[in-house]
Amino acid sequence: MARDYKSAVLSFRCLCSIVFVLSGFSIASFLCWFHCTSTSPCHKQTQLPDRYEDRPIDLLTFASAWNYLDFAPGRPPKLLKIAVFVKKWPHRSHAGGLERHALTLHLALARRGHELHIFTTSPPNSSFPKYPISSLYFHLSKPTAAGYLDQALVWKQFQSQNSTGRPFDVIHTESVGLMHTRSRNIANLAVSWHGIAYETIHSDIIQELVRSPDEPQSYSLTERVMRVVEEVKFFPSYAHHVATSDHAGDVLKRVYMIPEERVHVILNGVDENVFRPNIISGGDFRSKFGIPDSKNLVIGLAGRLVKDKGHPIMFEALKQILKENKKFREEVLVLVAGDGPWGTRYRDLGSNVLVLGPLEQAQIARFYNAIDIFANPTVRAQGLDHTLLEAMLSGKPVLATRLASITGSVIVNADVGYTFPPTVDSLKKALYKVWGDGRIILEKKGQVARHRGLQLFAATKMAAAYERLFLCMSNDSAKGETFCNYEDPLP
Ligand SMILES: *[C@@H]1O[C@H](CO)[C@@H](O)[C@H](O)[C@H]1NC(C)=O
Ligand SMILES: *[C@@H]1O[C@H](CO)[C@@H](O)[C@H](O)[C@H]1NC(C)=O
Ligand SMILES: *[C@@H]1O[C@H](CO)[C@@H](O)[C@H](O)[C@H]1NC(C)=O
Repeated sequence: MARDYKSAVLSFRCLCSIVFVLSGFSIASFLCWFHCTSTSPCHKQTQLPDRYEDRPIDLLTFASAWNYLDFAPGRPPKLLKIAVFVKKWPHRSHAGGLERHALTLHLALARRGHELHIFTTSPPNSSFPKYPISSLYFHLSKPTAAGYLDQALVWKQFQSQNSTGRPFDVIHTESVGLMHTRSRNIANLAVSWHGIAYETIHSDIIQELVRSPDEPQSYSLTERVMRVVEEVKFFPSYAHHVATSDHAGDVLKRVYMIPEERVHVILNGVDENVFRPNIISGGDFRSKFGIPDSKNLVIGLAGRLVKDKGHPIMFEALKQILKENKKFREEVLVLVAGDGPWGTRYRDLGSNVLVLGPLEQAQIARFYNAIDIFANPTVRAQGLDHTLLEAMLSGKPVLATRLASITGSVIVNADVGYTFPPTVDSLKKALYKVWGDGRIILEKKGQVARHRGLQLFAATKMAAAYERLFLCMSNDSAKGETFCNYEDPLP
């Protein structure tokens, strides 16, 4: 179904060329036709699947990512009062995927005028970020010993806000921020999953395969399946589920057996105003770090430099290639942003690897512009990695591990980048392929990546999709609201 919808989008563009001819070559249809021929392999698609003609679309049973849809960008048709449960609110750029998602999404919704109440833990020190948004409220509480939200406490805070005469329209919990014991029987509640146990089995298998004989076998491999069974049992206590990748959506429906009208795919988004192509800032970055023009391939790595982000595999692959290939040594430079134990090891690889340490968000945006390709060897199969989305929005092709969330939602074909099974040999082969393809081909893939990024991974698209889901969940048919229906906004 996901593929069907994508072909529908492509074939829709293709229809433009017919319209172009029929309409007497008007400017608009010319632009439409030009867009079509210049960006999509649409000549291969001629049939519209039945589904697309089935309009309006019932959003609740829509099987593809909502990011594919265009929601009207104007003022929201209705302002909502939204409760958000999130274990930790991020402090600046040092944050994991879940927290960054929570920040990007909920600030965007508050800026659109919705009333946001964030229930989260107070940070270990007293400083908490301040935002100049009048419809944004924080309700802090001391975390439990294990670092979770104190459920009894936040529930009390929630109830007091819910009984002020204006009850919440929607409740959103980031993962198990609000636990299933509390979420049961709340119809207007949605949970976003940034990783489910079933996906992690793939990571466990990879880790076991690369384990050296002197390391003990990880206990997680045997525990994980029971964890999946537990999740299958308690997940139905949440009314609506948002999957952040197409793969997770499929697993929630198929393995976790949650009815399809309660599972919605909304891919993560990153700030398209921060992450965008900028040749000048890329050049500045290169000269600042003294990257010579003789290097005709600059590979970028970023993020936490730890084992579960696949750095042992990347380190070994680079070490072997640098040792065996003189020309590669002359032509290739690897830029590493971020910190963690593997930073020091990368430094040991010599002058072909430049370790920059952790960078602030603005610097990271320049970093993406300074590289030819972004590589992410992660072996963590959960969620949707933000760095890949940032690189794509910056107009760079990506190289990443062949994990289901990545191949299903991000690097869906060779037009935007490369994937490899997580072994040293496969990664070496992929790196040689990237090098062999060279800058011209990489730039072309980068343009396709940028196009796909804008269509799917822009923060505004993610926020618009969530807003619509929340509107749909609070749909009042008595008032004639039809928020669960989607009509193509294009004429
Ligand atoms: C407060 O704690 C956060 C981590 O929770 C840390 O990043 C930040 O630097 C701390 N701020 C101060 C002023 O100590
Ligand atoms: C919030 O308040 C409304 C109105 O009183 C009530 O119907 C609803 O059940 C409350 N929500 C929860 C989760 O308690
Ligand atoms: C939303 O409202 C429309 C129009 O009244 C109604 O047909 C539809 O069933 C409602 N959807 C939900 C999910 O309540």
